[in-house]
Amino acid sequence: MAGAGQNGGLPAGRASDLIGSRIAGYQVEAEIGRGGMAVVYRARDLRLDRTVALKLLAPELARNDTFRKRFTHESRVAAAIDHPHIVPVFEAGETEGLLYIAMRYVAGQDLRALLNREGPLPVTTAGRIAAQVASALDAAHSHDLVHRDVKPGNILIAEGTDSDHPEHVYLTDFGLTKKSLSLTGFTTVGQFVGTLDYVAPEQISGRPVDARCDVYGFACVVYETLAGAPPFKRDDDMALLWAHQFDAPPPLTLLRPDLPGAVDTVVAKALAKRPDDRYGSCGEFVAALRSAVTARPREAAAHPATRVDVPVAAPDPGPPPELPGWARPAVGITPRAPGP
Ligand SMILES: Nc1ncnc2c1ncn2[C@@H]1O[C@H](COP(=O)(O)OP(=O)(O)OP(=O)(O)O)[C@@H](O)[C@H]1O
Ligand SMILES: [Mg+2]
Repeated sequence: MAGAGQNGGLPAGRASDLIGSRIAGYQVEAEIGRGGMAVVYRARDLRLDRTVALKLLAPELARNDTFRKRFTHESRVAAAIDHPHIVPVFEAGETEGLLYIAMRYVAGQDLRALLNREGPLPVTTAGRIAAQVASALDAAHSHDLVHRDVKPGNILIAEGTDSDHPEHVYLTDFGLTKKSLSLTGFTTVGQFVGTLDYVAPEQISGRPVDARCDVYGFACVVYETLAGAPPFKRDDDMALLWAHQFDAPPPLTLLRPDLPGAVDTVVAKALAKRPDDRYGSCGEFVAALRSAVTARPREAAAHPATRVDVPVAAPDPGPPPELPGWARPAVGITPRAPGP
């Protein structure tokens, strides 16, 4: 299905040609899936005789110095983190002009596929998934590693151990986002950039990012697991970027009236435009969400009016910034004089 442009230089023909071939000590067995900049295969690690997921990145990424340096650095950091909810990276390297990562093969599906199939999830399921992703992100942040591309496609869901833990969730793809490159002009016209549904305002405006950009992206994902759609949906990318920067997210309870109003306040804080106004960690956000959900009987039933009274908008980021000179209309538009 995916054409040559879809995965940035790994055309469908070539990708399937790789089945059965050997790449850096791995025997390629089957294609698992493909995203905007890579194809992921199930492969056999010939040295250790085990199944792995082998991710091959589009060749032009290897030619981009900024990307290659960050890829090498961040795959090393990610490989050093030993956490139950982070996909273990076994090896990352370069062979014949291709960057590759070998990691644990996670049998299951990603959260994107789950949401596409099931729509909004029950609160308990969404809560279990959120708690696991939050622990992975907070662990990465404690190693000074910012994910930058938290989204349902990077959250893998395997079968859990028992009925108390029906799913085991893994976060993957640290430092593999192409967004910062595309926003600084790396991509060429028509190249697939990836989703902008989860991108933080400071990533858009090119300010330095830290762990709090993951709090924002994670909050967009949590919102989607509960609402069935991310907080901002717009017909074109520019409008979507604008919404992340300046629009208040629609209250989650509009889409999930079964949830108490207190949830809206928690979500608004996690999605605050200014990083300083967000929760200090993903775990803090999940804990606040959990207590907002469990506060339900008292708040929602005894005081139904709180639903309306709770300030749901994100803290006001103030008016949009003044347009730079070059962006102002060439033909003067004079403000209308105040009416009589
Ligand atoms: N370790 C893994 N084990 C099993 N499946 C995996 C693994 N890593 C990735 N996948 C699957 O491979 C597919 C492609 O992943 P990939 O990361 O290339 O794309 P994506 O994250 O969906 O999109 P993008 O390229 O925008 O990041 C996804 O469906 C994902 O679920
Ligand atoms: Mg991915």
